[in-house]
Amino acid sequence: MSKFIIRLEQPEDFVAITRVNELAFKSVPHSEQTEHFIVLALRNAGALSVSLVAERSNQVVGHVAFSPVQFSDGSIGWYGLGPVAVIPELQHQGIGKALINSGLASLRSVGASGCVVLGDPN
Ligand SMILES: CC(C)(COP(=O)(O)OP(=O)(O)OC[C@H]1O[C@@H](n2cnc3c(N)ncnc32)[C@H](O)[C@@H]1OP(=O)(O)O)[C@@H](O)C(=O)NCCC(=O)NCCS
Repeated sequence: MSKFIIRLEQPEDFVAITRVNELAFKSVPHSEQTEHFIVLALRNAGALSVSLVAERSNQVVGHVAFSPVQFSDGSIGWYGLGPVAVIPELQHQGIGKALINSGLASLRSVGASGCVVLGDPN
């Protein structure tokens, strides 16, 4: 497994996060390649509750976003996972899993009720 660290996003990561999302989703059939705009919109709306990057050799190579979601029954404290992205050449090495597990740990630490994910069931 390649060496990487998971950490909170910093303003100087914003360009790299856009690039990671563009690269990761470039060849994904169910994607409209708009994920980097979703991240920007969430950040601009102040809705990027947890935004983590994976860094390897001083480069951002992965990213995950968590944002609040609302339920029609009024349940509170829920979050949505996504998008999550790892650059193609480093996929299937555990980086995505580490990003998601770190994000879920952050949500637990703030007392979140739970986290949902939408998308391809596979
Ligand atoms: C999906 C993605 C973030 C996973 O990151 P990764 O670093 O490649 O994944 P990991 O190596 O941590 O694998 C974690 C688990 O997910 C599985 N997995 C990884 N990519 C998968 C995919 N595209 N489809 C199904 N399962 C996948 C792995 O088999 C592994 O399962 P295991 O723990 O049972 O072995 C990455 O492949 C990616 O960026 N894909 C393109 C963008 C995308 O489709 N994002 C998800 C929708 S928001």
